[in-house]
Amino acid sequence: MTSGAMTSGQASDARPGPATADQIAAAWTDPKLANVLYHDWEAATYDEKWSISYDERCIDYARGRFAHVAGEQGWPYGTALELGSGTGFFLLNLKQAGVLDEGHVTDLSPGMVEVAVRNARGLGFEVEGRVADAESIPYDDGTFDLVVGHAVLHHIPDLELAMREVLRVLKPGGRFVFAGEPTEKGDWVARRLSRATWWAATRATHLKPFEKQWARPRAELEESSLAAVLETVVDVHTFDPDRLAALCMRAGAIDVRTVTEELTASWFGWPVRTFEAAVRPGALGWTWATFAYKGWLRLSWLDEHVLSRVVPDQLFYNVCVTGTKPDA
Ligand SMILES: C[S@@+](CC[C@H](N)C(=O)[O-])C[C@H]1O[C@@H](n2cnc3c(N)ncnc32)[C@H](O)[C@@H]1O
Repeated sequence: MTSGAMTSGQASDARPGPATADQIAAAWTDPKLANVLYHDWEAATYDEKWSISYDERCIDYARGRFAHVAGEQGWPYGTALELGSGTGFFLLNLKQAGVLDEGHVTDLSPGMVEVAVRNARGLGFEVEGRVADAESIPYDDGTFDLVVGHAVLHHIPDLELAMREVLRVLKPGGRFVFAGEPTEKGDWVARRLSRATWWAATRATHLKPFEKQWARPRAELEESSLAAVLETVVDVHTFDPDRLAALCMRAGAIDVRTVTEELTASWFGWPVRTFEAAVRPGALGWTWATFAYKGWLRLSWLDEHVLSRVVPDQLFYNVCVTGTKPDA
């Protein structure tokens, strides 16, 4: 995999075509190639697909995830790196929340790095972008005060190697925070709920009375199914929180801590997102968006303030992990 710097946001708006059958065949046994194909293909439409924004809603979300696992001491961190930044959702919103000053975004997918750099420009600041594999981070030892990531660890084949790299590029005493990683049990439930929703929604919307208003064109559904094939290759891990903490300590981290989040919120959120992807774009409208967001917020509150006291943490959907590099 190559690595290179990208400091300008001159991304092309053209979306690469879906992966060909030959590319998918090659990617079948190569999760990194699958990640590049899948995420390059998704980059231009990723924010829209996942309702990612750079306003109060997502700033609060990013700040909340960070503070929940790592607290608020030490803000702002001087220099921060994101691994698997995608379009910049986590780092750009953490910067806007005042968690960090100078940002660097990296990703295996060149398309994603381009969009992240361009998104930062759109918000009125610069970040440096580099195409980079988390297993060999192209920065010198002791460069960063903070390394972050969101929904990236589960894609990295040799995760212990990546965590050793994280600790290498951190300054002594520096912190890492990774959020939004699927737990073993939470992911098992979420996938089944999503599959059942997709099955039911794609059939119901193609019934004659609903077809005109609700059905997503067959060609688009086929494209989504192709994406789902690559998705099975790019998702390499799910996590048990205790084993994830142990891996970080084996890599050399100290003060390691995990928290888990989203139980009922994920049972609601995954079918909702799957339904949104299964119907004709634009068919659902503002009332639905408000219902989906407020529903998710209320259930997240219930999970955090009530259920987290009584339900085992392995059953929640997301795990976040933090730790620090020992002082020299
Ligand atoms: C699920 S997306 C999450 C993107 C973003 N962090 C977010 O939360 O919206 C995972 C990202 O990790 C990147 N990725 C996968 N494997 C990687 C690796 N080995 N090194 C660096 N980035 C990787 C993918 O290209 C993709 O952009």
